[in-house]
Amino acid sequence: MELRKLGKSDVKVTPMAFGAWAIGGWMWGGAEEKAALGAIKAALEAGITTIDTAPVYGFGRSEGLVGKALEGIGRDQYQILTKFGMNWQTEEGEYFFDSEDMEGRPFKMYKWASKEKVMQECEDSLRRLKTDYIDLYQIHWPDATTPISETFEAVERLMEQGKIRAAGVCNYSTAQVEEALQTVQLASNQVPYSMINRGIEKEVVPQAQEKGLGIIPYSPLQRGLLTGKIKPGHQFNEGDTREGSLYYTDENIRRTQALLDEIKPIADSHNATLAQLVINWTMHRPGVACVLAGARNQQQVTDNARAFSFSLSKEEHDKITAAADRFSLAEK
Ligand SMILES: NC(=O)c1ccc[n+]([C@@H]2O[C@H](COP(=O)([O-])OP(=O)(O)OC[C@H]3O[C@@H](n4cnc5c(N)ncnc54)[C@H](OP(=O)(O)O)[C@@H]3O)[C@@H](O)[C@H]2O)c1
Repeated sequence: MELRKLGKSDVKVTPMAFGAWAIGGWMWGGAEEKAALGAIKAALEAGITTIDTAPVYGFGRSEGLVGKALEGIGRDQYQILTKFGMNWQTEEGEYFFDSEDMEGRPFKMYKWASKEKVMQECEDSLRRLKTDYIDLYQIHWPDATTPISETFEAVERLMEQGKIRAAGVCNYSTAQVEEALQTVQLASNQVPYSMINRGIEKEVVPQAQEKGLGIIPYSPLQRGLLTGKIKPGHQFNEGDTREGSLYYTDENIRRTQALLDEIKPIADSHNATLAQLVINWTMHRPGVACVLAGARNQQQVTDNARAFSFSLSKEEHDKITAAADRFSLAEK
């Protein structure tokens, strides 16, 4: 599979990465270990060698599963993107939200990226991932209690130590990216982006293009909705946070379905599923380096990987964009 250079860094990624959030189970109503390991293996077999994870995904579980699945494979055969800066162990940093762990115990989530925290988190991630370096190390969410310069001085130190190859941010505004760039060259900005969530196109993408950062879109399937499988009245597993999200109200499911119905003939003409069409479109949007598609099992990975097996003409791509332009979300 073609590899794309991530920003100005030396890291090369596949245009689609395996997103390892759901396999951590937390916020996704649980996850099966066997299915998770099978999903990662299927990704590698399909040529998707870039994997995005985070310590907070299942509180170490996702990173642990990634480490287990990759054990014994040559280190130059895959790229690990992980993150830092979420704190569920203590009440330090910037309060983020109230949540429950996988046993239903309540806790408060904080965003915290102090120098000591970043250095410690990196050691913990390396251990769980069973590797001695991370290809891309990203702050997970901005932390208003730590100066951005302090966080990225720590990240620079990790780079000098050879523990990480490149630095990235997630969920940063253009002003925060600007500030971080005073301390470190960023390779990427990981942000939410899908056919029905295109807010980044206005400022975030143009800035990335100007400053040489790759955009890493997350939730390109809008957490499964754009596969077309979710119908109004859908019953989610307990603990699945899609229930209650604005995109998953019955009215917005209906609006999304109308958009999918409009573009389905293009998918059909390529013998592709809607998920494959949506991922293909996202991969070819301006500024996009690597689309993070999440999957829980082998079947979903294999299905999504076929997004590479066809090419959309410019006319088809534009037709899909025009249909997406007409989409709007209904308020709750
Ligand atoms: N930096 C951040 O703040 C941040 C935030 C969110 C995500 N991310 C990253 O981005 C990745 C992807 O985002 P995401 O997982 O939120 O959303 P996504 O890729 O839009 O959706 C993934 C989910 O959709 C369903 N699905 C995927 N392929 C399918 C298929 N072929 N057929 C049917 N269902 C399918 C699965 O859930 P079900 O089977 O349960 O329906 C899967 O877990 C994450 O794994 C994570 O690595 C980062």
